[in-house]
Amino acid sequence: MNNRYLRLGVNIDHVATIRNARGGEHPDPVRAAHAAASAGADGITAHLREDRRHMTDDDILRLTREIDLPLNLEMAATDEMLEIALHHMPHAACIVPEKREETTTEGGLEVAGAHKRLAPFVRQLSGAGIKVSLFIEPDIEQVDGAVALGAQIVELHTGAYCEASHDTRGSQFDRIAIAAAHAEAVGIECHAGHGLTFDTVAPVAAIPTIEELNIGHFLIGEAIFGGLESSIKRMRSLMDKARSAADGQRSA
Ligand code: PXP
Repeated sequence: MNNRYLRLGVNIDHVATIRNARGGEHPDPVRAAHAAASAGADGITAHLREDRRHMTDDDILRLTREIDLPLNLEMAATDEMLEIALHHMPHAACIVPEKREETTTEGGLEVAGAHKRLAPFVRQLSGAGIKVSLFIEPDIEQVDGAVALGAQIVELHTGAYCEASHDTRGSQFDRIAIAAAHAEAVGIECHAGHGLTFDTVAPVAAIPTIEELNIGHFLIGEAIFGGLESSIKRMRSLMDKARSAADGQRSA
């Protein structure tokens, strides 16, 4: 296979989390998106949750108006979110499972068993020219379910790999590598994300069929210590090093 560039999508939700802890306008997630662009991000990811706990409708409007990078809008499969996506026309819409009581998106979307429910969302978003990504557990059946739905992209949930103990991390990583290879075999674009850090990113970045990583919480947390641009640049550099080392090994 040809070597592929690995894109970095920076998720800025938690800039809004900090702003909302006090109300008001500071820190501004749109300013963070500008900083991410200067630091080499290839895209901006933002999740408009049903309860608006971080990003707001106005944030999404401003991101679409003020940021030149492609916007990946994370959304639940609800009529309200579908209408918002069709109104704002982001570059991509990533459909995620959403539970009100969860602190973050805890698992992947059940696509294999929910074809009928999800099909109208995929059809309407794709029909409007928005790329549809489905955030799934790294399992072959879920990848096949996404293909059956006609989605253009799967995003593999890396949370279980990132949270795994030393003993189980290898098997969690294998699930991601197998699902990413399967995505290539069945012709669907593959992204990955959730919970990635400086310590966990390299093996995932080395998987040659993954084309984009979406990373947020760690980068925003790390920005407290060294600034947002510096945390993004370091992540970018770790991703690039891991990808080029893997490309080099394959061609040797
Ligand atoms: N990808 C998806 C689909 C997500 O829902 C999230 C979390 O909002 C991320 C990536 C980024 O995860 P994290 O903030 O843990 O890096």
